[in-house]
Amino acid sequence: MGVWVEIKGCRVLITGSAKRVGKKIAVDLARLGATVILHAFKSRNEAAETASEIEAFALYRPMVVHGDVSLRETWTAMDGEIEKHHGGLDVWVHNAAVFSATPFFSTSEEDWQQFMDVNLKGAFFGAQVLGERMKQTGRGKIIAIGDVAAELAWASYIPYSVSKAGMHGLMRGLARLLAPEVQVNVVAPGPVLLPDGTKDAERHRIMQTIPLQRIGEPADVSKAVRFLLESDYVTGQVIRVDGGRSGLRPGVR
Ligand SMILES: NC(=O)c1ccc[n+]([C@@H]2O[C@H](COP(=O)([O-])OP(=O)(O)OC[C@H]3O[C@@H](n4cnc5c(N)ncnc54)[C@H](OP(=O)(O)O)[C@@H]3O)[C@@H](O)[C@H]2O)c1
Repeated sequence: MGVWVEIKGCRVLITGSAKRVGKKIAVDLARLGATVILHAFKSRNEAAETASEIEAFALYRPMVVHGDVSLRETWTAMDGEIEKHHGGLDVWVHNAAVFSATPFFSTSEEDWQQFMDVNLKGAFFGAQVLGERMKQTGRGKIIAIGDVAAELAWASYIPYSVSKAGMHGLMRGLARLLAPEVQVNVVAPGPVLLPDGTKDAERHRIMQTIPLQRIGEPADVSKAVRFLLESDYVTGQVIRVDGGRSGLRPGVR
C-alpha cells in the first residue's frame, strides 16, 4: 500500500503531450527512464513526431492515445488501451487544457462552457476513471497541471481562472478520497510558455512582475513534476512554479 517505485520503468500518461509544456514533461520523464504514454486531441502529427523523438533515445516507441478529454468515453477508451498494452498505469499527469483571454462582459455561454468542459469536467472524468483504477490497484500518483491564476483570477481570464480553481479543488478532494494508496497534487505554473505571437512589450511587462525576473520555462514545470514523482510523503498540495510572482511583491525586499 502506497509503496512507491522508481521513475525508471514507471508507466506515466501525460495528457496534451504532443507539444509545448506537456511534450517537455513527457520527454524529460522518458529521459529519466519512465515509460511514457502520450496523449493528443487535435495534434496527431506532432504527437507522432514527439513519439519519434523519444524513440530516438529511449528503448521503446511511446504509445499515443487520442481523444477529447471532456468526454467520459475518451477516458474509458484510454484506460482500456493502457491496460491492454501496458497492464496498468502508475502516474497520470493531467496537462491538457484550453487557455485564452475572455473579455468578461462579452464572454458567451459557449466560451464559458468550453473552459468548464475541458479544464474541469475533463479532470473530473479522468479522476473517476483513472483514480478509481489506481485506488483499486493500491497505488498511484496523480499530478495535475493547474495555474496560479486559480488563486489570482486574472481579470481578462476569469472563466479560465475559475475552471482551474475548480480543478485545484477537485484535486484537493481527490487527495483525501484516494489516500493512502494514491498521492494527488497540483503543479501551478505562472507564465512558462507564452502563447505564440506574444509581443516583446507584453513579455517585458510580465517579466517585470516576477521577483525572479524571468519568464519560466517548460523545464521548470517538468522539474516540479519530477519532484512529486519522487516524493512519497506529499499529497493534497499545490506547488506554485511562478518565480515568486503570486506570493511576493516585486521590488520589495
Ligand atoms: N503555458 C503557460 O505559460 C502556462 C501557465 C500556467 C499554466 N499552464 C498550464 O500548463 C498546461 C500546459 O500549458 P500549455 O501552454 O502547454 O498548454 P496548451 O498548449 O494550451 O494546451 C495543451 C494541450 O491541451 C490539449 N487539449 C486542449 N483541448 C483539449 C481537449 N478538449 N481534449 C484533449 N486535449 C485537449 C491540446 O492537445 P492537442 O494539441 O492535441 O489538441 C494541447 O496541445 C495547461 O494545463 C495550462 O493551463 C500553462
